Amino acid sequence: MNKDESTPRKMFDFRKKPMQSADDAAAKNPKTERREKFYADIREGETLLDITDLRIVFKTDEKEIVAVDSFTLSVKKGELISIIGPSGCGKTTILRAIAGLIEPTGGSIRIGGNECKGPGSDRGMIFQDFALFPWRTVRKNVEFGMEIAGIPKEERSERAERYIKLVGLDKFKDARVHELSGGMKQRVGIARAFVNHPEVTLMDEPFGALDAQTRNIMQAQLLRILQNTEQTIIFVTHSVDEALFLSDRVVMLTKRPARINRIIEVPWPRPRDRSDHDFVEMRKAILDELEKENVMN
Ligand SMILES: Nc1ncnc2c1ncn2[C@@H]1O[C@H](COP(=O)(O)OP(=O)(O)OP(=O)(O)O)[C@@H](O)[C@H]1O
Ligand SMILES: [Mg+2]
Repeated sequence: MNKDESTPRKMFDFRKKPMQSADDAAAKNPKTERREKFYADIREGETLLDITDLRIVFKTDEKEIVAVDSFTLSVKKGELISIIGPSGCGKTTILRAIAGLIEPTGGSIRIGGNECKGPGSDRGMIFQDFALFPWRTVRKNVEFGMEIAGIPKEERSERAERYIKLVGLDKFKDARVHELSGGMKQRVGIARAFVNHPEVTLMDEPFGALDAQTRNIMQAQLLRILQNTEQTIIFVTHSVDEALFLSDRVVMLTKRPARINRIIEVPWPRPRDRSDHDFVEMRKAILDELEKENVMN
């Protein structure tokens, strides 16, 4: 039994282990190099993020837009939650509020029992449109947050190298981001978020712009990264397939204002087989429900 199998993630039950590669070996290190965490006393499986009665109203000159209303959700440490819902229903708004980029109109967002007030390095966000610096190299993009945090050059460079390797971009670390493909850019976004060891990572349709094949590769790669590092993730997607492939729970939202329609526990161990009968059935049931939600509204 190798070292990983003796210490499985509780939330993440990977039964079939992929073959050990150089990247896997590199991926083990982040756990050991991890700094003292903000919420070290919260154990995997215990509530880390608590959102209660979240309400977000945007006021423009002419009108008020209620984007989110009565949104209540508890996220456990180590959990991967997918949020799925109609376009414009308020998914990005929820993530931005958790990231501290929008102040809630009502309700509360707590991490480790503390009210989130503004952005913090305990939360990392991977944006819908990458939000990278095109003229910076891969390495310089990944180092950006650490530069801001004043982390010494040597540590910055060592950590960046490790995470660039983890996302399979070792050969491109000195390439400028504008020279990369969409999938590669998204991997830079992932490395840039994870290198800062956020307690909660917010991913806003990170693979939405990719072709189906690259998307599947990225999903598998994300799972491989998660296998070796402790992460709590909220993942917004439009794809039911992606949500079922990746998550512990799928949160289905209503049309705007975003409220929780239903939460589905995904019971299967990873890696999952998309062609499995139960997988196909559940995907169909969720799609039917989403369609009903659209028709009823
Ligand atoms: N800064 C803002 N000012 C005014 N209205 C906003 C602002 N940000 C978002 N909205 C509105 O809030 C609603 C929810 O937007 P949001 O971006 O959260 O949707 P979404 O679910 O992420 O959509 P998509 O699936 O298309 O990404 C929309 O009606 C949008 O127009
Ligand atoms: Mg969005």
